Amino acid sequence: MTALLEVSDVSVTFDGFRAINGLSLAINEPELRAVIGPNGAGKTTFMDIVTGKTRPDTGRVVWGETATSLLSMSEAQIARAGIGRKFQKPTVFEDQTVRENLRLALKARRGVFSVLSWRATAEDARRIDELAQEIGLTDRLSHRAGDLSHGQKQWLEIGMLLAQDPRLLLVDEPAAGMTPAEREHTTDILKTAARTRAVVVIEHDMEFVRRLDCRVTVLHEGRVLAEGSLDHVTRDQRVIDVYLGR
Ligand SMILES: Nc1ncnc2c1ncn2[C@@H]1O[C@H](COP(=O)(O)OP(=O)(O)O)[C@@H](O)[C@H]1O
Ligand SMILES: [Mg+2]
Repeated sequence: MTALLEVSDVSVTFDGFRAINGLSLAINEPELRAVIGPNGAGKTTFMDIVTGKTRPDTGRVVWGETATSLLSMSEAQIARAGIGRKFQKPTVFEDQTVRENLRLALKARRGVFSVLSWRATAEDARRIDELAQEIGLTDRLSHRAGDLSHGQKQWLEIGMLLAQDPRLLLVDEPAAGMTPAEREHTTDILKTAARTRAVVVIEHDMEFVRRLDCRVTVLHEGRVLAEGSLDHVTRDQRVIDVYLGR
């Protein structure tokens, strides 16, 4: 089986500091993967590299069955190729309803020049209902996005990304600032999304990672320190040492 995303021996230097240092990892489709590691391990930079925001000095990043190099593609091209990214701060349109936000995300996917037939409108309405169900905001569809709780805004943004139907969804610390109940719902959303696509989640909260119940990659000093089940990696002495700061 070829991986959907393959990062091989990638290094990135910022002002002489090697933030990513020989990073290699592969993501399958579908797959749910958690990426953990201490602050400064290079987790966010890894996502910056995959999305084209940061260009590595060396290494390969290839995508899809054609093993296309992402390194020669612009950020917009990478997004169009099927890589969606959720940032920590939600960027929903506060003055629009949840329904309008989802509709705008669907439109963005179709492109502004597509013909708006009644068929497209009906299909959008069906898809909006489906997405609202998936993110648990069915009873909030007519509410202003600005009136949602922090957690609900995060779910809406995940819904807007899912509206674009990415093959790979990258999510950086989704549970930050959420209540325990919101965290639990977020794991459900991500697990469901990962049934049909690849989802990579950076997360600090170990309870959250345990609930994701997926393969875990531990990053440290810009490379993979350990990989496997959460139980496997948390038994690894090197991982224990890194987390205890030894
Ligand atoms: N644009 C940048 N310029 C300089 N240093 C950076 C930049 N981005 C990240 N770094 C550094 O690279 C290291 C890895 O950062 P980051 O990927 O944000 O870590 P993590 O997300 O695992 O906490 C850190 O030491 C950080 O200070
Ligand atoms: Mg980070």
